[in-house]
Amino acid sequence: MKLPVAELHIHLEGTLEPDMIMELAAKNSIELPYESIEDLKARYSFTNLQSFLDLLYTNLIVLRTSEDFQQATVAYLENAQRSGVRHVELFFDPQAHVERGLSLAEVVAGIRAGLAEGEERWGITHKLIACFWRHAPASDALELLQTLVEEKHPIDGIGLDSSEIGFPPSLFAKVYDYAREHGLHVVAHAGEEGPADYIWQALDLLKVERIDHGIRCVEDRTLVRRLVAEQIPLTVCPLSNVRLRAVDSIHAHPLPQMLEMGLNVSVHSDDPAYFGGYMDANIAAAIKPLGLNAAQLAQLARNSFNSSFLDEATKQKYL
Ligand code: HPA
Ligand code: ZN
Repeated sequence: MKLPVAELHIHLEGTLEPDMIMELAAKNSIELPYESIEDLKARYSFTNLQSFLDLLYTNLIVLRTSEDFQQATVAYLENAQRSGVRHVELFFDPQAHVERGLSLAEVVAGIRAGLAEGEERWGITHKLIACFWRHAPASDALELLQTLVEEKHPIDGIGLDSSEIGFPPSLFAKVYDYAREHGLHVVAHAGEEGPADYIWQALDLLKVERIDHGIRCVEDRTLVRRLVAEQIPLTVCPLSNVRLRAVDSIHAHPLPQMLEMGLNVSVHSDDPAYFGGYMDANIAAAIKPLGLNAAQLAQLARNSFNSSFLDEATKQKYL
């Protein structure tokens, strides 16, 4: 039996496996710049965050219809439940789809239909989080968020992703003010490639409830004290950090140190189709090379549910 956990850092677009990319491209008559699936697979070697994002954004254009989003979501949930996931808070990038002419309604409805199917088939509970691109203007994010809210598209929260360095959280303060005023949960990627200062900004200016990645907090003792005191959740993705070279090797990953410092960390898979594995593979990376013991693993699993946006009664069911 796999360790039951909540998946809190997972991008739908990053769950498209190569065979599904090729299948959807053929179905939708989309020409991808690859000669074959082998040619596509040969490109999964990254030097930094941007080199991965370039491939991710090229491939996601195969998602064209509401049914495609549903199919991708269900395929992900099937892999997720096999890897121990009982609850998922799924990220998607609305800008990546709207800029290609898709409507918000078909994107959100397709993902929601997939989540509902996953709950029916495997009992996986869920939340849906729209992430905005930090490389695009904050005014675009605000406009899109206003549309999501005004047209009542069913999302539970917002996040911030894409290229980090040079795009500080401070740029998005108004977007986050609007989200909080409208009762949405708020999270943000910070301190993956970017400096500890971006984590301060996400806390103080965006007033986020969770930090995605956040591993560079260990460079700033005052920040660590604050994160420990407030028990701010950090959603850590070991395999992602290795593949995007945010750490030199899995052995150099700060997860054990973060647990020892008393930080509220949990383990997640980020973009599992690109980084070599789902939740179970990320947990395995924490066990073998990082040497975490059974008590630490149980702590990570408890943290994942406690850090979720589930109501208290449902959390207790999982804990
Ligand atoms: N960081 C930033 N943007 C992303 C990521 C990530 O790890 N995955 C998908 N979009
Ligand atoms: Zn991420």
